Amino acid sequence: MGPVRDASGLRLRRARVDDLPALVRHRAAMWEDIGGFGAGAIRAEAISYRRWASRRLRSGRLVGWVVEGEDGTLAGSGMVWLVESLPRPGMPETRRPYILAMYTHPSYRGRGVASSIVRAAVAWSRAHGFGRITLHGSKMGRPVYARLGFERTWEMRLELRSPTAVRKSAPPRGADPRRARAR
Ligand SMILES: CC(C)(COP(=O)(O)OP(=O)(O)OC[C@H]1O[C@@H](n2cnc3c(N)ncnc32)[C@H](O)[C@@H]1OP(=O)(O)O)[C@@H](O)C(=O)NCCC(=O)NCCS
Repeated sequence: MGPVRDASGLRLRRARVDDLPALVRHRAAMWEDIGGFGAGAIRAEAISYRRWASRRLRSGRLVGWVVEGEDGTLAGSGMVWLVESLPRPGMPETRRPYILAMYTHPSYRGRGVASSIVRAAVAWSRAHGFGRITLHGSKMGRPVYARLGFERTWEMRLELRSPTAVRKSAPPRGADPRRARAR
């Protein structure tokens, strides 16, 4: 899709490699707004995200959209990563689109910036034949995605570094190979 400037002066277009510095800044600002991460961890992630995103943007495994504000600076951005996936019944594709790094600058929030990016990502994914698009929604993002038809799923996870999870997921005593040998 080519650039589209709406009545409010905002312009949606595909992200380019030369947007990378701004995309990296947006992602760091996203983590800051989500909260719970130290400044050092966010700075370190920005360095590895830049490398990660640069490679994939160039190869086409990562695509993105930005919305330019009236002054040409980036009001918001969001990305779609084609994650390696495995075929499922009725879904033979081995890549699936995953939305990430959604961020709108505070002065542009509530004007449909994120919604327009998600709509573009959905249209792009549909046009490329994908049967499903997924994301992990932050507290602020959830209402935006829900309004566009996204539903919660039954994905589950176990935090492998959490002491509780380590205790709960330890093998049962009988399954300990050292004990089995001793018997
Ligand atoms: C979540 C986030 C990306 C949403 O960005 P946004 O551009 O403000 O989103 P939208 O404008 O599309 O939608 C937000 C709200 O504006 C309203 N809105 C949408 N289009 C509108 C328009 N044209 N005019 C006025 N309001 C509009 C929506 O109804 C929505 O209302 P809500 O308060 O009920 O949610 C933004 O708040 C953000 O960057 N948050 C911090 C980082 C983050 O959490 N990112 C998401 C990670 S999953």
